[in-house]
Amino acid sequence: MLKRNRLNASREIAPVTLPNCRLIKGIETGSEDIDILPNGLAFISSGLKYPGIKSFAPDKPGEIFLMDLNEDNPRAVELRISRGFDMASFNPHGISTYVDRDDTVYLFVVNHPHQKTTVELFKFVEDDSSLLHLKTFRHDLLTSVNDIVAMGPDSFYATNDHYFSDFILMFLEMFLGLTWSNVVYYSPKEVKEVAAGFYSANGINISPDRKYIYVADVFDHNVHVMEKHANWNLTHVKTLQLDTLVDNLSIDPHTGDIWIGCHPNGMKLFYDDPENLPASEVLRIQNILSEEPAVTRIYADNGSVLQGSSVASVYEGKLLIGTVFHRALYCEL
Ligand SMILES: *[C@@H]1O[C@H](CO)[C@@H](O)[C@H](O)[C@H]1NC(C)=O
Repeated sequence: MLKRNRLNASREIAPVTLPNCRLIKGIETGSEDIDILPNGLAFISSGLKYPGIKSFAPDKPGEIFLMDLNEDNPRAVELRISRGFDMASFNPHGISTYVDRDDTVYLFVVNHPHQKTTVELFKFVEDDSSLLHLKTFRHDLLTSVNDIVAMGPDSFYATNDHYFSDFILMFLEMFLGLTWSNVVYYSPKEVKEVAAGFYSANGINISPDRKYIYVADVFDHNVHVMEKHANWNLTHVKTLQLDTLVDNLSIDPHTGDIWIGCHPNGMKLFYDDPENLPASEVLRIQNILSEEPAVTRIYADNGSVLQGSSVASVYEGKLLIGTVFHRALYCEL
């Protein structure tokens, strides 16, 4: 099956503006994924070096920023990472937090050191704004992880694309419509593929009742709703088709709404042309399980403000929009 225009290369978008937005100071080289704790602390991964996509600081290691969204005028602070962790090759991609019963905050970070894939586990130490590196997960089934959603202090679901294992293969998938991308469940006891047949499984997240897993298929322009079973297997419930390239998904813990950072014209991510900047678009999906989910374009920009949005995350009327390699936007809704 040859699907054309998988990258939506030519789509131009009408702007949708929000009144109270500002670019976040200090974040200049990407804000690929954002995860907000129930208490309003937002973690932001920055500095991803993607094969084929521009980086404003190709030699600078990646960073994790923290923003306290309870503050009146929140600012991003770089988290210090404990000694012993190889910072020079730190190339952070998707992130996910897990809060344990004793309120310990764990941060899972997909990492691509030397173009390989690992998942790094950190403990967040709030007292001195640092991350203590606890362990590195590696596995043959974690081939080229894009995003993860934590299920416990040492277990998670991960989406595999082929960016970092085989860039050529990824382009074949894109243009020929091969569906070789999957979702893997990882725990110390068991690692297994739990869903397959995606063009390029990207963002992954979980519903507030923890019954459903949402997977964004970036090149198939859709979001899959999967039911999670006691043995961690996933079965397909429904697919919501959208007219844009869906990247990371985040869930409003109060409403269950899904917020998505999208690439309205994906090919421009690869152009590196000031006359043809990659645009940004944020969608909100309400009631995805109902017959007629409501899809709202909350924000859209042609790249003059924000280039290549990859994630949008909300906390109590505040919205953070992250990007693959550009800046990050803070908005009061
Ligand atoms: C992008 O949008 C801005 C503001 O809406 C506008 O001023 C600018 O001309 C647009 N640029 C392009 C290339 O369309």
